[in-house]
Formats: sequence, structure tokens, C-alpha cells
Amino acid sequence: MSQADQLIIFDTTLRDGEQSPGASMTKDEKVRIGKALERLRVDVIEAGFPIASPGDFEAVSAVAGAVKESTVCGLARALDKDIDRAGEALKEANSARIHTFIATSPIHMQHKLRMTPDQVIEQAVHAVKRARNYTDNVEFSAEDAGRSEIDFLCRIFEAVIDAGATTLNVPDTVGYAMPIQFGELIRQMRERIPNADKAVFSVHCHNDLGLAVANSLSAVSNGARQVECTINGLGERAGNASLEEIVMAVRTRPDIFSCKSGLDTTQIVNCSKLVSNITGFPVQPNKAIVGANAFAHESGIHQDGVLKSRETYEIMRAEDVGWSQNRMVLGKHSGRNAFRSRLESLGISFESEEGLNAAFSRFKELADKKHEIFDEDLQALVTDTKTESFNERVKLIALKVCSETGETPHAEVTLSVDSEEEPGAASGGGPVDAAFKAIESIVNSGTELQLYSVNNITSGTDAQGEVTVRLEKGGRIVNGQGADTDIVIASAKAYINAVNKILEPVAKAHPQTGDV
Ligand code: KIV
Ligand code: ZN
Repeated sequence: MSQADQLIIFDTTLRDGEQSPGASMTKDEKVRIGKALERLRVDVIEAGFPIASPGDFEAVSAVAGAVKESTVCGLARALDKDIDRAGEALKEANSARIHTFIATSPIHMQHKLRMTPDQVIEQAVHAVKRARNYTDNVEFSAEDAGRSEIDFLCRIFEAVIDAGATTLNVPDTVGYAMPIQFGELIRQMRERIPNADKAVFSVHCHNDLGLAVANSLSAVSNGARQVECTINGLGERAGNASLEEIVMAVRTRPDIFSCKSGLDTTQIVNCSKLVSNITGFPVQPNKAIVGANAFAHESGIHQDGVLKSRETYEIMRAEDVGWSQNRMVLGKHSGRNAFRSRLESLGISFESEEGLNAAFSRFKELADKKHEIFDEDLQALVTDTKTESFNERVKLIALKVCSETGETPHAEVTLSVDSEEEPGAASGGGPVDAAFKAIESIVNSGTELQLYSVNNITSGTDAQGEVTVRLEKGGRIVNGQGADTDIVIASAKAYINAVNKILEPVAKAHPQTGDV
């Protein structure tokens, strides 16, 4: 594919996606998602903001060490300390990119940066030059470009290309742009910037008005050749542009788009499920491409049409995005080697044999209750096993719940809190409510439940239920996940997982609003 024909897919699930409240991921979870993105053949994976915290730095290094086929990118404000930290974190990468940014809109320059436009250009140029000491692959973003003046954007982009930037990113940071106008902005900049042919134009759209994908596609029609996006559209506030929607739009309409992505689209559904499982952000059933109903035909007329000729109502094939890959992979007679090799093919490894053994015994328990084990079950099981071994202060030892017609549900729970066993009991409006109250009678977390959701991981009544619990305390939001064939137990696990996250201290800076 020539450069002009290639649409570079830059995935920022691990960075901007992680900025969604409650979506923070551990190093190990980031590596699992990074490997899944690599299997999807994403061109660039933005793995994090290394200066944010030691944990973020380690996570970016770990992704850089684990991912070999995709370029791994680290975010840095246009500050020496950020760039040096990003350069350090990316040392192990086969192919590394530093993504540096500074705000360019009048409102941000005046109120956030308190800098003049000339000072902003000077800092941007300095940052790009410094980043070039670490890698030849440097991206510069003009934060809030969607509300910046085109004359100023042209000036700063021309200057950073001269300084060595190879990708120019145009973020619609607050989701303000409209498709026609945003496409026009890209077209005009490509025409007006004298050295525009020396860099790739990229866009990064947020979804505040539900237009992130439309704006990105309009930019692509006008010559942008990189899109920044996230799996399931995860991201700050209303999210970022959704990777799966952009990739499938470009692939489905070659009559409109004169470029292609190199993605293996059959990996899309797996990636979507993994990201949802790890972050605890469920995918709505009617979500394009990856929603459970995206390829379901309910009305008789539609079904009849699809059976006669699938093109009557289908513009894409479910199998092309990985829907029909939900096949049994392991069963109760599968041995440890088969288990390990299936996990390896999913990019999952354990640091110790004990970790693998714990996951294998979980697998055996699950296989006794559920005869067919799918990849999605394995992903959920590994998430559960890894979070439990991850220094959790509160652990579930036992749970008994009585629920009977005409009686008030009652739960009795035993938890281990800092290695001490503690019993608790409570009644509630339903079995889940009773279980949560029983847990609270022990942990007294002082949190507020913001969201409770249950999804089945695969189909059938013996499927595992995957529960997400979102808790809030003092403005901090965390998501907890749990999976089990018994949804009350899955709910208790999810609640305890969220409580453990609330108990963990956090010191992590936000790249756009926080101070480091
Ligand atoms: O939305 C935004 O402007 C960003 C930048 C850091 C690229 O995420
Ligand atoms: Zn963003």
C-alpha cells in the first residue's frame, strides 16, 4: 500500500480510554490489551502518559517490551521532563513514537497556559526537537484544535514540521466540531502549510455531540491519513471516536474512501469484549459493529430477506468483524498444556507458575459447571484470577444467600480483610442488594453505588454473568468487575473488586488538567 492509500490506525484506548472515570487499568491489563491490539494489527498503540505516575511509566515500558509488531507511543506535554520520561519508558520498543502536545486555542492559551501564541510555538518547537533525540517518529498535537484559529494552526504546524514532527494531530478535544467544517479545516491546512507534504495529518475526535466518527471520516475524505480512536469508543466524557466504526466504514465504502487500513477486522469483537471486561464499561446492545444486536435480525421481513440473499439487509458480514468466532475452545477434559497454549494464543501469560496454577484450577471449577469454555470465558477468568492475586485487601471467602417467594432475601458473607476473617449479614430488597449490604456491614466503605450491570459473557443459561459495579467516594470513581456462573456471586466479586480499588491510594496526573 502506498502512503497515500494507507489509513494509519492509532489506538488510544490505553491512554485516552483510560481517562474515562473508573476505567483505569493495571500494567498487566494494559499488556493484555496491547497484545490484543497488536493481533488486530493496529499501527500505533498509545500506551499511556509515562510522567503521570510510576505505575503509568511501568505500564508503558511493559507494553513497549511486549508489543513487537505495532509502534508503541507515549504521551508527553511539551515539557522536557515529560518528553524525557516518555523517551525512557519507550526504550524497549521495536518502534517507538513520542506524542507531544500543547494547547493552541485562544481560550486554552489565555486561561490554561497563560502564554502568548509566540511562546506556544516556541515551546512546541523545542519539545519536538527534544523528542527527536529519542526517536525519529514524533507526533505533535495542537490541543483544542477544533476551537483554534486556522492561521495559528498553520503557523505552528509549519514550525513543528521544520523541527522534525512527522505526524500532525488535529484534536477536537471538546467534541465541538461539525463534519463539513472539520473536513474543510483539514483540506485548507494541507493546502496552506508549505511543508505539509512532509508529515501525515491525523485527527483525534471526542464524541460530546455524538459526531466523533463523522468528524474523523470527514477528515479522512479531506486527506487525513491517521485517525486516533479507541475500542468501543471508550474515552473521556462521551468518549473518543470508535475504532471499529471508523475501520468498518472505510472498508465498507471503498467507493467513498481512497484509503485502507491494514487491520485484521476479524479481531474486532474479541478486542471489544476484552476492553469491556477489563474496564467494566459494558457495550450497549445496539452499538454499531460490536453490540450484541449489531447483526441480529428481528423482524420477519428482514430475516426472510437475509435468508434469501444476505445483501438485502446486511452491508457487512458478522464473521468479518469476528462475531462467529465464538466457538468452544476448551472443555472439562482439557489439560494444563492445552489451557496454557490457548492463553498464549490470546497473548496471556503469567509471571509465575503459581499464577498459572490458580487460573487452571479456576478453569477446572468453571468447566464442571459449564461444559463449553470459550475465549471470552478465559479472558474473564484470567481477569478475575489476576485481580485477586493483585494484593487485594478484601477477599471473598464465602457467601450464602436465601431468596424465597414472599420472604425478604437474606445474605451471610465471610470476607478476609487484611488477612483477618470477618463475618457479616444483612437483608435486602433482592439477593444482590442483601449481598452488597452484608459486604458493607464489614467494610463500611462509605461509597455510593453509581452503576450495577450484568451481561452474559456467552449465550445460554449456563453462561457466566459478568457484573460491573461502579462506586463513587469523594469524587473518585472506580469500576469493579466479577464473573461467575452464579450472578449473585459475580455481583459480590464485582463489589469487592471495586471496594479494593477505592482502598488503594492513587497519585496519577491527568495530561490535560492535572499537575505532575
Ligand atoms: O483530546 C485531546 O486533545 C487529547 C490530546 C492530548 C491529544 O487527548
Ligand atoms: Zn483526547
